[in-house]
Amino acid sequence: MLAINSDMEEKSGQYELLIKQMRCMMESEKDEIALMANASSLLSEVFPWHWIGFYRVIDNQLVLGPFQGPVACTRIAFNKGVCGTTWARKETIVVPDVEQFPGHIACSSLSRSEIVVPIFDKNGEVKSILDIDSTELDAFDATDQHYLEAFCALFSDNRPA
Ligand code: SME
Repeated sequence: MLAINSDMEEKSGQYELLIKQMRCMMESEKDEIALMANASSLLSEVFPWHWIGFYRVIDNQLVLGPFQGPVACTRIAFNKGVCGTTWARKETIVVPDVEQFPGHIACSSLSRSEIVVPIFDKNGEVKSILDIDSTELDAFDATDQHYLEAFCALFSDNRPA
């Protein structure tokens, strides 16, 4: 029990530091692509996930943005796969086992679980998403969801000032 608590605390601490570093980067740089590129790098330095990257809504499709990991699909339609479904539902989706998610898009056969977090424009519409895949089953818990939503809120336009 103690070990579980200290693991959780360690993970929370890592996320809190990541969020601070991201905030610092955002003070000196406003270009979204540059920030997404460094965001995916920052996350990949701390967490050994298989794929970490952004898709942006462009002309009513999700188009691949900055990422770390193997080559990925470049375009995803609304309501397709985990990413397109996150866009449609406007909420984070955690998938403990990708084989159990109907319509999952298998960019890499090594992906076993994933989390996708939406990023909102000033009207509350999804303007991009953060997609993270793991080679482990059930890799993402409530702590990951909480902090990854806080991390993505930094990229949202409707975040409180
Ligand atoms: N997992 C996604 C596809 C994108 S890749 O995994 C990078 C999905 O089903 O939406």
